[in-house]
Amino acid sequence: MATVPDHLGVPHLVVTRHALVRQVLADPVTFRPDNALDAVTPVPVAALRVLAGHRFRLPPTLANNSGASHPEIRAIVADALHPDRVAAQRPWLTDLVRRRVARLAAALDAGEPVDLYAELAADLPLLVLARLVELPDAPVGAVKDFARAALELFWAPLDADRQLALATQVGRFHTVLRGFAATGGGLAARLRAAGHSPDVVVGALFFLLVAGQETTSQFLTLLLHRLTAEPAVRAGLRADTVDVADVVEEGLRLEPPIVTWRRVAAVDTTLGGTAVPAGSSVVLWLARAGRDPAVVPAPAEFRPGQRGSRRHLAFGAGAHRCVGAQLARLEAAVVVAEAAPLLDGVTVLRPPWCPDNLTFRMPDAFMIRRAGAGPAGPRRVATA
Ligand code: HEM
Repeated sequence: MATVPDHLGVPHLVVTRHALVRQVLADPVTFRPDNALDAVTPVPVAALRVLAGHRFRLPPTLANNSGASHPEIRAIVADALHPDRVAAQRPWLTDLVRRRVARLAAALDAGEPVDLYAELAADLPLLVLARLVELPDAPVGAVKDFARAALELFWAPLDADRQLALATQVGRFHTVLRGFAATGGGLAARLRAAGHSPDVVVGALFFLLVAGQETTSQFLTLLLHRLTAEPAVRAGLRADTVDVADVVEEGLRLEPPIVTWRRVAAVDTTLGGTAVPAGSSVVLWLARAGRDPAVVPAPAEFRPGQRGSRRHLAFGAGAHRCVGAQLARLEAAVVVAEAAPLLDGVTVLRPPWCPDNLTFRMPDAFMIRRAGAGPAGPRRVATA
């Protein structure tokens, strides 16, 4: 643990050890989740005015809710994402991914570059989410832009001009969400029927649209990238000696899309022998906890199924543990099973680049090309 100042000089207690991160997550009374959605760079008045103009509010709903309403809101969301409903998506998702992979394989065979983020990972989670939870009828691109703008506005170091631009984008979509929250069916209707205020319905939809799809897009991209450097794992998948589910867990351990998550100390307390005053921001370094040698024997190595591999904290823990874990795992398993063969013999033209962000990795592209394929490649020359 160390106290580290952020880009504005504000101190945060950063926790890296698996046991301590887990201890904090498991104790939402001492370490409350209230600051989960607080902007890392405080939003200046001009941007706040824009948000207020869109009646933007993020009341405690899910991740940032330590109140009595949390279990009930969570139960309604968990119902929409019930494991049986999630499992029922597998055939549809497999078919969609298989068709995409066939198209991408043809492009790679023809020597063309392929962007696995844009052409495979970016929209899949949103398309699946929309089958489970009724969402506003908005173009996929608009939802993706809004979600990425929200992740930047709340978790990135920013200047005032950028904050204003992001607030405009986030605020505009928030208005769409507010309209949908008032009239939409499915989850929105169930939350309304349970007596939750319009702000709570909007807040729940907001969080789901951001956390429920952008995270998984990021994870699929990072995991596929990691697998390009793991030929033995791909060979194991091909030979059926490596389990896809184990690959997903090892991926979550080593390449989690959410690298940190925050809590705030509710009272004066101690953690691992260190005094933690009430009000302290506690930054839990989930990615680092996954590499704790106390938990896995080969922390930096991608070894599917190694002891401790599944004990990562990529989905958090305790009362606020990710409700979408099952869904994210299913999506990743289908993508790994179908798309890993694409990675054989490819060259990485552009690895995923991740901007400065406290919590989310947000890769923007992942370009590959089959080495030796295509018009100018040796295979063509050899044929000639
Ligand atoms: C690889 C993908 C994902 C990762 C790594 C991830 C990670 C996380 C983390 C770290 C938390 C905070 C947990 C805590 O405070 O202990 C969380 C909460 C949450 N996640 Fe996920 N998530 C993913 C995908 C999803 C998906 C697909 C959905 C839904 C469609 C989802 C919905 C939620 C919700 C609703 C919460 C708040 C739960 C609560 O506070 O009760 N997540 N997630």
